[in-house]
Amino acid sequence: MLTSARILSLIEEKRSSQQYRNYLTVRDAVLKMREVPLERIPETALPSAYWTEELSRFLYMFDASPLVIDQLRHHTYHITGIQVYGYRTGASSAPLFAEKLEALKRLDETGLFVPEAENLGGFGHLIDGQLVNIDTLKYYESMVAMGRGGALEAFGGEMRRTVMEIGSGWGGLAHVFKRLFPNTTYICVDLAELFLFSATYLMSVFPEAKVAFLDADGNGVEGAWSDYDFIFVPNTLAHEIKGESLDLCMNTVSFQEMTTAQVTEYVALADRLGAPLLYSLNRKRSVYSTELTDVHEIIGERYDTTEIPMLPVPYTKMMDSLRKKEKVKEKKEKGDKKEKVKFEVDKGGLSLEKSAISAAKAEKESMNYKHVVGRRKIVS
Ligand SMILES: C[S@@+](CC[C@H](N)C(=O)[O-])C[C@H]1O[C@@H](n2cnc3c(N)ncnc32)[C@H](O)[C@@H]1O
Repeated sequence: MLTSARILSLIEEKRSSQQYRNYLTVRDAVLKMREVPLERIPETALPSAYWTEELSRFLYMFDASPLVIDQLRHHTYHITGIQVYGYRTGASSAPLFAEKLEALKRLDETGLFVPEAENLGGFGHLIDGQLVNIDTLKYYESMVAMGRGGALEAFGGEMRRTVMEIGSGWGGLAHVFKRLFPNTTYICVDLAELFLFSATYLMSVFPEAKVAFLDADGNGVEGAWSDYDFIFVPNTLAHEIKGESLDLCMNTVSFQEMTTAQVTEYVALADRLGAPLLYSLNRKRSVYSTELTDVHEIIGERYDTTEIPMLPVPYTKMMDSLRKKEKVKEKKEKGDKKEKVKFEVDKGGLSLEKSAISAAKAEKESMNYKHVVGRRKIVS
């Protein structure tokens, strides 16, 4: 147990740490980004109702203490919902994570696994000495899906590549991508406040990285974008990016929370910046969304899309959910047999009921998470 004197000295130590200084740099940049004059911001750049509510929950991140930054990952539940509590020592779910990791490794031909970093309060189940949590598995699954879908062929060589992630959250996918493909300029587009998490995280995990923040004066980025490792672009200025040429655009679990107009604008931006490939892991819309039609249809307007089959469970679930589902199905089938005998005479009623069930099934299926790789329709 720490003594009280040690706690006080720890706060002072952490105050002068590189990670806390990174946070202060990022906070200044974010405050500046938020100064974009309203008349310059397209209406589509205003956060959706869903994200307006979310932003209000972490205003405190503008006033984070050295110890909060030291455990930044414990605060990213605002973004992806996972809590450190579920991964405490002795948590019974660890073997399920190991099972899912194995299942993903069987689909991975090129070694794309990157564990959770230990920095800034990184947490997870310890599997073969590496930290693994739901986010880790999600980013791994996305990388494998991109590999299987041919979206990573341009990466890993001598040539510098540029990718753009829309809705980069706390920076988890950026961390994984940059570990695997260091010769990449990674552009994070997000609501400015989110860079308090992602930019602080990435600058601390990659202390040597060259980083820039695009601000309203256009002063943040000097020279060629390809000179940088990470460039942070607020959503309010994304539409002003010009001249950059992308190799890939990515979006995970984020388009589904935006409005139809926002997704349409971002897909158009990827197209305008010449991204030959667009990867998406999304539902057609979030169950909470009232402002979106269908992510996949919108991507399909400019990109020829292919769904990449992955595991029979979504990223949010472990493999045991399949076993549970099987049991429920068996039980239901037994029950159905009894019901069928009961209603055998009323054939008309039965077929009506059947079509209602299959419509409900189709609607449920259409809300599944899908890994989609889009190929740009207009080849320049
Ligand atoms: C559920 S989080 C997912 C984060 C990350 N992609 C991941 O999978 O871990 C959704 C992300 O979309 C971002 N987002 C919401 N509206 C946005 C907008 N209009 N433009 C850019 N990003 C937005 C949020 O700020 C957040 O970072």
